[in-house]
Amino acid sequence: MIRKKSYGHPFDTEAVVGSYTPLDGPLPFLTEEGGGRFSCPLDEDAVVYGLGENVRGINKRGWIYENACSDNPNHREDARSLYGAHNFLVVDGAQRFGVFVDYPGKVTFDVGYTDSSVLTIQTEEPDLTLYLIDGDSPEDIIRQFRSLVGRSYIPPKWAFGYGQSRWSYMTADEVREVAARYREAGIPLDAIYLDIDYMEGYKDFTVNQDAFPDLSGLSAELKEQGIRLVPIIDAGVKIEPGYPVYEEGVRQGCFCKDEDGADFVAAVWPGRVHFPDVLNEDARRWFGGYYKVLLEQGIEGFWNDMNEPAIFYSEKGLENAFAQIDTYRTENLDIHTYGALQGLVAGLKNSPEDYRSFYHRHKDGLVRHDRVHNLYGYNMTRAAGEAMEALEPEKRILLFSRSSYIGMHRYGGIWTGDNLSWWSHILLNLQMMPSLNMCGFLYTGADLGGFGGDTTEDLLLRWMALGIFTPLMRNHSATGTRRQELYRFPHVEAFRQIVSLRYVLLPYLYSEYMKAALGDGMYFRPLAFAYPEDAFARRVEDQLMVGESVMIAPVYQQNARGRYVYLPERMKLVRFGGSHQAGQNVLETVQEELLEPGHHYIDVALDEVVFFLRPGHLVPVSRGGRCVADVDFTHLKLLGYPEGGCPYELYDDDGFRKDYDDPAHITRIRVDGSGAIHTEGTAGKEIQWL
Ligand code: GLC
Repeated sequence: MIRKKSYGHPFDTEAVVGSYTPLDGPLPFLTEEGGGRFSCPLDEDAVVYGLGENVRGINKRGWIYENACSDNPNHREDARSLYGAHNFLVVDGAQRFGVFVDYPGKVTFDVGYTDSSVLTIQTEEPDLTLYLIDGDSPEDIIRQFRSLVGRSYIPPKWAFGYGQSRWSYMTADEVREVAARYREAGIPLDAIYLDIDYMEGYKDFTVNQDAFPDLSGLSAELKEQGIRLVPIIDAGVKIEPGYPVYEEGVRQGCFCKDEDGADFVAAVWPGRVHFPDVLNEDARRWFGGYYKVLLEQGIEGFWNDMNEPAIFYSEKGLENAFAQIDTYRTENLDIHTYGALQGLVAGLKNSPEDYRSFYHRHKDGLVRHDRVHNLYGYNMTRAAGEAMEALEPEKRILLFSRSSYIGMHRYGGIWTGDNLSWWSHILLNLQMMPSLNMCGFLYTGADLGGFGGDTTEDLLLRWMALGIFTPLMRNHSATGTRRQELYRFPHVEAFRQIVSLRYVLLPYLYSEYMKAALGDGMYFRPLAFAYPEDAFARRVEDQLMVGESVMIAPVYQQNARGRYVYLPERMKLVRFGGSHQAGQNVLETVQEELLEPGHHYIDVALDEVVFFLRPGHLVPVSRGGRCVADVDFTHLKLLGYPEGGCPYELYDDDGFRKDYDDPAHITRIRVDGSGAIHTEGTAGKEIQWL
């Protein structure tokens, strides 16, 4: 049951689209302390799940999180906020409930940080709506929550292929070379991402004609090879007379305003910019309309960036800083004054003062940005999503964002921003996935190999072995760092096997994704959700369930030859890669072994991927392909641990259209006592044991 209670004058975030029961009386589960503050005791065994994109573990206990969308590339253990604000958590202890704090400004979740036995929630202002959900299990609560906030975004099927990205693909020829070298190396690839360098002077919806003289031609040429181009779109619109997006935006009053009613001036990549007022419906329609410019050049996917929105400096902030800097010129700079001088420049970036100095023209009146800060990325992506709906009503378009709020999950996915080539960030990637799924973000993944810093081959191999399970599987890195396209490393064959395995597993991964999206379920689950009675499983922080049949336990430490894995029940270890001949189909490298419940040390070589199959469960696989379009989804093989009938519902569709709910997409698979495979459904699948 979902109960709703509002306080003060809450802002309508439009996150909620489902039904609930209004509540007038006192709150269940939480104590109302007034002023936007709520608390509850946490018993010793309680586990707290959720909060989406944040640092730390699957169990969020023991830290304080300040959900305020931040352009913060330091995803250290002590970060309090990353790019998204996902204010939903589930307490699973003596009390079991979920709470969604629908409030668009900063919300602080002190999850046993100040006092290990207390959870407190504090909004910046006392105008908010709470949704409280009780249920039989965390999963039941999450499903109810997800029906409240609406169906998760579904990308085209090709977007489940592997993508290569890099900030610094400077020319069309460089992009062609990436495609050619992937094809030469026999490593599957479905997308190449274009970062800000494809634009002319970092201006949205323009293409640098010297570097990319014929984007349509390039896009068609690559599509012939099964590879799509996915350009970035940034939030800031460059101020430049003669640039139509800027001029039209000014003319139509579509930019955010400053205190004096003038268009607010901040700066990002191109220098001075205005921000489209995406909280305003007209401005949203206006900005979204521009995506057409790229759709017309054969583009079928976008990533929206810098939409917290990130601010290098504001015009006013810069003026103030310059004025003050001068006063230090004649000083003997000691620890205090030197620190202050440094702070002057560092403090220009993403300054809270700047976020307090501009306004949106929302349907309910003028609203100061900081009060609705967490809605900007959401509404930028909504602008794009609504435009796609209007421009390409029959076709799925790939869309994901950096910044987000719950509600945005209906319009696009997210990537988890600027991580580093750190081993600890493999684990962070794993731990974030179920938390994001709870909040509705199913199409998600991290920059594989790490965005900042120099990667190493072993890190990349281990990270890819996790990445083949994440719906968004993209290798991305920052300009100036070591290049990390897979063909650049000595063990190209190992990379080929690992990425090929993704394509082998696609029938299962896609089916599990679609069932999660259509049924308000989770694709990645903590072990505790599959084994609620298992007290140890409840504490496992470095293994995950992927869909209903598979458990993964990636290696995330350098120089480790394997790792300890906890098996809550008897499971089948499935191993791919390892000793193979060059060019061999990864499917032929499969080895299987039954393991008893409990703790096992599992050897995993750098060129291997292992996962664990549950008894009575199946995994349909293909023979792979060099891109998603190459994969034969009709003639499938089964991996399984056939005990007790093994029913499996296989979802498949053409991957382009939006007829998601057509029952013809479902094939029911059943294995009888003699091991014979039976299928039911109209899709004509031919399925055999591997
Ligand atoms: C931001 C993005 C990153 C991108 C860079 C340049 O840091 O998070 O992915 O490469 O901007 O556009």
